Parts: sequence; structure tokens; C-alpha cells
Amino acid sequence: MCGIVGYLGRQEAAPLVLEGLTRLEHRGYDSAGVAVLGRGGLKVAKQAGRVRDLTDVLPKRFTGTVGIGHTRWATHGPATDANAHPHADESGTVAVVHNGILDNAAGLRAELADAGVTLASDTDTEVLAHLVARSDADTLEGKVRDALARVVGTYGLAVVHADFPDRIVVARNGSPLIIGVGDKEMFVASDLAAIVRHTTTVAMLDDGELATVTASGFTTMRHTDLSATGKSASQVDVDASAYDAGDHESFMHKEMLEQPQTARAVLRGRLDDRFGTAHLGGLDMDARAMRAVRRVKILGCGSAYYVGQMGAALIEELARIPADAEAASEFRYRDPVIEPDTLYVAVSQSGETIDTLLAVQEIRRKGGRCVGLVNVVGSAIARECDGGIYLHAGPEVAVASTKALTNMFLGFALLALQLGRVRDLSIADGKRLIAGLERLPEQIAEILAGEADLVEVAHSLAEAESLFFIGRVRGYPAAREGAQKFKEISYRHAEAYPTSELKHGPLALISPDVPTVALVPADELTERNVAALHEISARSGPLVVVTHEGVDLGEVRARRIVVPKNEPELDPILLTIPLQLLAYHAAQHLGHDIDKPRNLAKSVTVE
Ligand code: G6P
Repeated sequence: MCGIVGYLGRQEAAPLVLEGLTRLEHRGYDSAGVAVLGRGGLKVAKQAGRVRDLTDVLPKRFTGTVGIGHTRWATHGPATDANAHPHADESGTVAVVHNGILDNAAGLRAELADAGVTLASDTDTEVLAHLVARSDADTLEGKVRDALARVVGTYGLAVVHADFPDRIVVARNGSPLIIGVGDKEMFVASDLAAIVRHTTTVAMLDDGELATVTASGFTTMRHTDLSATGKSASQVDVDASAYDAGDHESFMHKEMLEQPQTARAVLRGRLDDRFGTAHLGGLDMDARAMRAVRRVKILGCGSAYYVGQMGAALIEELARIPADAEAASEFRYRDPVIEPDTLYVAVSQSGETIDTLLAVQEIRRKGGRCVGLVNVVGSAIARECDGGIYLHAGPEVAVASTKALTNMFLGFALLALQLGRVRDLSIADGKRLIAGLERLPEQIAEILAGEADLVEVAHSLAEAESLFFIGRVRGYPAAREGAQKFKEISYRHAEAYPTSELKHGPLALISPDVPTVALVPADELTERNVAALHEISARSGPLVVVTHEGVDLGEVRARRIVVPKNEPELDPILLTIPLQLLAYHAAQHLGHDIDKPRNLAKSVTVE
């Protein structure tokens, strides 16, 4: 969603800010803008549309060595030029870029209008520019503090002021804000991706912090009283090439192919073959606390929710603890009963998804224990949880989650193993699972190596307006995730159903124009699954069957995709990998922008 980039130094700010904004494009946005401070004072350029459109129309003399920029995802008001950030006050002295939502903006807008201020946009953010301009504090920090004292809501923000041309003031409450330290130049950003090519020496603001950034350094303080918090920058361990698609035609392709390595990374150092268990130090739970868990409730959104369903199945099977997953967005709105002996698990790649974050806060407010399965280290959800398992998938840029999703599954497998081993899971079964987990990265590589064989079938699926994804028990969440991936990037109507439910409704839709992708692993349900395939085949429904070697499909006419067999509990993730490839090649065939699907954002930071 919205993105912030800022620069101060000796170079022209606008090109660097705009370049940084393009690095945030994958997060989703509908308008962009930039403000620079230079000899000519403060200048703002902004419009609806893409960053490159803005670059094309930038005035010649748009110069200055201090700049802030923004990509906006419309919330308060439509995607228009006027609503794009930066927002300025009436005199054009102050410019503000803001991520997050101000809950009391309507009241403040009315108050400003009553005081004679002409509001130029429909946004909540604009009030900040006016409040900063109207403060009579004699420093920019004081003016920003005064403005923040009036607002309620979430923000990551950056402010420039023509009377204080040597600085950018930034602040954070619930929306990430990073300061990057360069060589006699400084950066600010809402996401490391925007600045990682320039510096990996960064400081991350905490909620309630404000910072002054000048070309030579920065100082952090509390935004209530401007007392120092003394934060310093440190080196982040991140490889800038992770933010580059390299030779791949898209980030999604690159990230799919990284899965064998990233899968190894999440398992590394966490498997204990001697005792057939897992070690998850970050959970901060001893055996007694683990044994006290009577129920597991998993919360996430989108793909994280579907992999949560896979995780719930793993936990029930291995630990024999009742477990289920729910969409975090629904959970927190139904006034959930929070039980003291339930272990809540929040799953999120970004660690920023607002629905998941607010669900975690609700759980903790009511005294529940919530652990996180999160990819982004130090993200809001990771900080909010009582402990957790970092996913170590590296930065994921494509909107459609692949490598992070796989590591979420593996994180659940580790959790299920540890919960199981403090209960009734035998050491032999623990060792069996560990051997299976160790085989997985190689098996994922094997499926990915067969990519070329799937291209043609993906193209044929792309021709259908509508298709089904079906699976049973362990396979059903994989079918849901497969349908999600397919619809996200191909824009085809893809619906997941439990195979057992086919004859209770959707069979009415089966025809030669409606293909079905069926997951039929070799397990205790194979025969039942094959019976359902007969029903589809009898109605001339085209079939693609993801299955294991040796599964007898009888008379069923189907295109088979064979995946390697692992332990049955771990099959779901191997069934998922070909579905990623099918969605990818269908979307590519249709000519879509795979990394930036229409209407979607990588991190959904608004409700
Ligand atoms: C958005 C994305 C989905 C993603 C979901 C959860 O809706 O479009 O692909 O699965 O957010 O994201 P998270 O960062 O919490 O895993």
C-alpha cells in the first residue's frame, strides 16, 4: 500500500526519491507525488497514475537536495491529483507525506474549515500539513509534536518545511518508518526496499518516536515531549540483490525458484533428530507451557489464512490438539472469546497486515497468548506477539506469496512437531517427520525443475473463464491456496471446493468449458477422490490432476501432474508448488503484470 521515500544530501533529491518510489510499486498504489526543498523554496508535484507518468511531467526546475515522495493507495477520497501526497498548507510552506489513517480527521477538517482554512483535498493527511503550519512552536520538531498531539490514528510520516530547509522530520505510530545512513547523505523510507541499494545502515523508529534527519545524521526523540531516545543506526543483514529480479522476468518467478534454498533456511538449526523434535527458541515457551495448550487458533489473511488451515491440520494430526484457522479480519469483529489455554498464532509475511495486527492486539488485550509466524524481522506483528518463529524467506516482492507461504507451512510443521513431542507423538514419528522435512527442499526443487512441462496445461487453463480447485482434508487448504493464486494473478474466476462437496452443488456447473484442478495425493482418501473425478469426467469436465506416482485414475481422462511423495502430513506443500506454476504461466499467457496484479497490494495496511 502507501509508500514513503525521502532524501537529503548533496545530490538532486527528486530523481533519487522517484527511483525509491519505483521500488515500492509492488506494494500497490494509484497515485504518486514528490516535494523538494531547494533555492526556489518548496515545490510539489503529484498526480494520479504511475511513478513513471509523474517523472515524465516533472518541471525542469524541480531542483533541491532535500525531498520527500509518496505512493498513495486511496482510502480517504478517490485517486485524484488533489488527493495524492505530498499535502501542503495554504501558503505552500509545509509538505507532508503520510502512511496510515487518522481516525479523527473529519472533526479536524471541520475545525480547520471553521477557522477559514481552504482544504485542497478529501484526505485525512492534509490536516497534518495545516496543523504543522499553524503551530507557533519555533522548531519544526515542536510544530510536528503539536500537530501529532491533535491527531488520533496510525502514521508513518515525513515533513519538510521551507523555513527549516536542512531537515526532514519523521514520526511513527503503527506504520513503519526507517532512517538510512549514507555517506554524507541520508534517506528515509517506509520500507527497506526503497533504500537498500544506497545503504544498509539503518535505524527503525518505534511507535511514539519522532526524528530529525539532516544530511549529516539524525536524532530520535519521543514525540510527546521531544525528550531524546538516543537511537543509533545498525547494519541490517540483507542482500540488496534480493530486491532485484535479476535474469527473471518477474519477482514471482524468482521467488518461486528460490524456494528450495529458503525452505532450508527456515529449517536450519531447528531440527533435533536425536529426540525427534524441533527447537523453537523464539517461542519462549517451555514444555510445561506447551503442554498446557488445549486449543490452537491460527489467524491470518489471504494466503496466510489458507496456509493457516494447512497448519491447523498439521497441529491436529501431530499434536492431537484441536486447531483451526480463521480470517483475522473476521475474527476480531465478532467479539471473540479469548481462552487462557488457547495458543493463538498470527501468520503474516509482511508483519504489517492491519487486520492481523489488530487481531493480535485484541487477543493480548484480553490476556491471551499470541505467537507469530512472521517473515519481516522487527515488523509490527512480530513486535506485538509474545514470541514467534521467524520465517527466514528473505524479502518477498511479488504480491502473490510463494516462498514466504512455503516457509509458513514449514513453520507450522516445526510448531506441530514440538507441540506433538511434548505430548503423545512418539520419538519414532518425530524422526519420521524430521526425515520428511529434510527431504522437502530437494523435492520442491524437483517440482520446479519440471516447470516447462506445466506451461502448456497452464495455457489451456488460462482459456477458461471459470475453474474449480478441489481437494479433501489435507488437500483442501492447498486447493484454496491454488485458487487464490490463480485468481490473484490471472483474474480468472477460480473457486475452491472440498472434493466431497462437489455433488452438493458445484457439479451443476461442470461442463467442457469449466476445468477442474483436482488434488489427489496417495493417501487414505485416494479412492474417494478418484470416485469424484469420475463424476466430473462423466460430465465432460476437463481435469488436471495433481497426484503421486502410482495413483490409479482408472478410466478418468485427465492431464496428470505428478509430485514426489513425502510423509502424508507434509504432502500439502508439495501439492501447492505446481499450483503456483500453473497460476504463473496462466497469468503470463494472458499478458498480465504478474508482480503487481490489479487492485491488489502486497501489504494491506488499512482496514
Ligand atoms: C494481501 C496480499 C495477499 C496476502 C495477504 C496477507 O491481501 O494480496 O497475497 O496473502 O495480504 O499478507 P501478509 O503479509 O499478512 O502475509
